[in-house]
Amino acid sequence: MPAKNQDTPQNYLPIPPEHILPGTRAGFEIYLKQGQRFVLYAKDNDQLTEEHRSRLGAMGARKVYISAGKEKEHAEYVQKHLARILNDESIPVDVRSETWSNSASRLAEDVYEANLPATVLRKRVQRIRQLIEMSRRFFDTPEALKELARFIDCGQQAYNHGIGTMVYALCVMQTFDPDQATMTDMCIGSMLHDIGKATLPATLSEKDPETMTPEEFTAYMTHPVMGVRAGSAIPLMPEAIHCVLFHHERMDGKGYPSGATEGEIPLTARVTATCNTYDGLTRDQPWRERLTPFEALKRMRDDTGAHDPDVFKRLVQVLSDSGLA
Ligand SMILES: [Fe+2]
Ligand SMILES: [Fe+2]
Repeated sequence: MPAKNQDTPQNYLPIPPEHILPGTRAGFEIYLKQGQRFVLYAKDNDQLTEEHRSRLGAMGARKVYISAGKEKEHAEYVQKHLARILNDESIPVDVRSETWSNSASRLAEDVYEANLPATVLRKRVQRIRQLIEMSRRFFDTPEALKELARFIDCGQQAYNHGIGTMVYALCVMQTFDPDQATMTDMCIGSMLHDIGKATLPATLSEKDPETMTPEEFTAYMTHPVMGVRAGSAIPLMPEAIHCVLFHHERMDGKGYPSGATEGEIPLTARVTATCNTYDGLTRDQPWRERLTPFEALKRMRDDTGAHDPDVFKRLVQVLSDSGLA
């Protein structure tokens, strides 16, 4: 039997045994709890095997443990293998959806801490966590989890951009004092706004839309509509669908797919559109480096007719509290 460790329980965190993924190296040690003792089950650089997992099943272990100092490594491991976990039919649906919500909350917190005001951080991050937790109900079927996995699998860049857009969109939407249901719809719709990109060839997603050929751009412009179709297994409410479908519309009617103008574009979609642009500009892209918040906002302001001025003003306000704009 491996070496024993007699640290106190506060030094260990429980994780689901389903996070042991055969064929990977975890990068953190995995322990079993036996009585009051934590017994080393797998070393950090061990190649995890089917046997590691099946032995736990035979023992009826409901939890395994990691040392509290390895929380970050565990989160990175889960994020790296998230699509695989979400697709794994041998893992109960609630374990898979909880794995997603914990991982998404952590990513959202990272976005918040790097880009938004520290003054009200705790309260706002907690609110975002709650909304993500409530959004778990959209992923309570294997089919919905599969759609989500497909989106994550099409590139961390698209998924991380979804999380970033969601954080800004929730902060801006909150200033309109909406009801809880609208905030939940906003949470899921803004995160999944680019889910339709999973249907595009990878080469297209990595290209600057401004340098695409007319044919390429025509194909690219289908992603909001394809997104609604791609997300059909996820029970999205109309407000969430608006975020996906209308996130490339412009106030002057020169956007796509419908060319809707001002009042025709729902507020949730106007907020998503503005936050989508801001997150995209302040994120490294395959074709250019990220802009500073100031440069991004300047470019957005100069793009007359693109954004709802009131939504834009509220985004600037949310950011300026942080001294970024
Ligand atoms: Fe998009
Ligand atoms: Fe986007």
